[in-house]
Amino acid sequence: MIYLDNNATTRVAPEVREAMLPWLDDHYGNPSAGYRFGRESRKAIDAAREQVAALIGSHPEEVVFTSGGTESNNTAIRSALAVRPDRKGVVTSTAEHSAVDEVVKELGESGYETSFVGVDEDGALDLDEWKNALAKEGVAVASLIWANNETGVLSAIAEAARIAAEHDVYFHTDAVQAVGKIPLSVGELPIHALSLSGHKFHGPKGIGALYLNRNSRFHPLIIGGGQEDERRSGTENVPAIVGMGVAAELAKAALESANEIRDLRDRFEKGVLEVIEGAEINGDPVNRLPNTSNLYFPGVDGEGLLILLDEAGICCSPGSACSTGAVKPSRIVRAMGHSSSRARSSVRFSFSRFSTEDEVGAAITAIRTAVGKLRVVMPSSSSRVVKSSATRSTDTV
Ligand SMILES: Cc1ncc(COP(=O)(O)O)c(C=O)c1O
Repeated sequence: MIYLDNNATTRVAPEVREAMLPWLDDHYGNPSAGYRFGRESRKAIDAAREQVAALIGSHPEEVVFTSGGTESNNTAIRSALAVRPDRKGVVTSTAEHSAVDEVVKELGESGYETSFVGVDEDGALDLDEWKNALAKEGVAVASLIWANNETGVLSAIAEAARIAAEHDVYFHTDAVQAVGKIPLSVGELPIHALSLSGHKFHGPKGIGALYLNRNSRFHPLIIGGGQEDERRSGTENVPAIVGMGVAAELAKAALESANEIRDLRDRFEKGVLEVIEGAEINGDPVNRLPNTSNLYFPGVDGEGLLILLDEAGICCSPGSACSTGAVKPSRIVRAMGHSSSRARSSVRFSFSRFSTEDEVGAAITAIRTAVGKLRVVMPSSSSRVVKSSATRSTDTV
């Protein structure tokens, strides 16, 4: 198998697995318990908090463990509204992951005033529109994705956060795809909250964190036993937290070799663009994550391509999302002003530090063969081919 879907999830690093095992085995004490056996678990959580804080440049006490990026996003946005009940405005972009997009849409349906600021053909935020949206009266929170999960395009986070600060608006960023892939430091920016997720940087699934600036007010989404300093109740998932901590430490060290991933991605892209006539990159080719390649294959049904690549043992993601069997063109590619047909003919490939040169070569060959076959079958059509479980998902993750 050639795994080129690292924006969906990543393999757990062997060191992460090793570090987790004792906490699934003998060390099962409840971190809230007063005896030494419980306090060992507490210490392990605190060590992981420091490792995560070091990766994002925060103070350890500003890190709250959650069940993942989705919970972190929900919590940040709803908390900002809860602490400012006099304000009813929510600003976000048209290029968010569904874990923000759906939250803001639901808030809109329940009476909040929502603005979805557009992006251009490169995926860059319209900063004038962002300014105007934030200048409106009563905006409580602005949420902007740091790195897009489909295209890898990086947002103008510093500028967007600065504009939010000028209007005294709470600023949250969904940095789930950025953390561990590019160096970032929350301390340097006027950010109130930032979401991250362990399984995107070789940690386990179902664990994430929310950075909360220690000078900002906060209202928890999940209440109960008061764990995580009253910010997220529920008995902590100690093995996963320990795993995420080690993954964070490894990711920080690996950032130094991020150029190797970029070189691999660039070699892949160069190879594909050379052999596939008309193929193009979706999104800004420069200002994006080093590991992501979202490619448009004109005249090729993306779903068909995924099926053939799956048969060739290659895992990658659709540029269009399918739910209940219906093909929906990618919201993100469409938000960039492209046609539905371009969105349907786009596929995302995403690399990690475990990707190899040989995989790149094999993937280029497989893509060339698959596109050749599809172009023979459907010389100029984007008509659909047989549905397969290979392309069934609810949204591009
Ligand atoms: C940008 C972005 N935000 C949020 C999420 C959700 O994270 P999790 O899977 O940890 O809930 C994802 C995962 O696909 C993502 O890519």
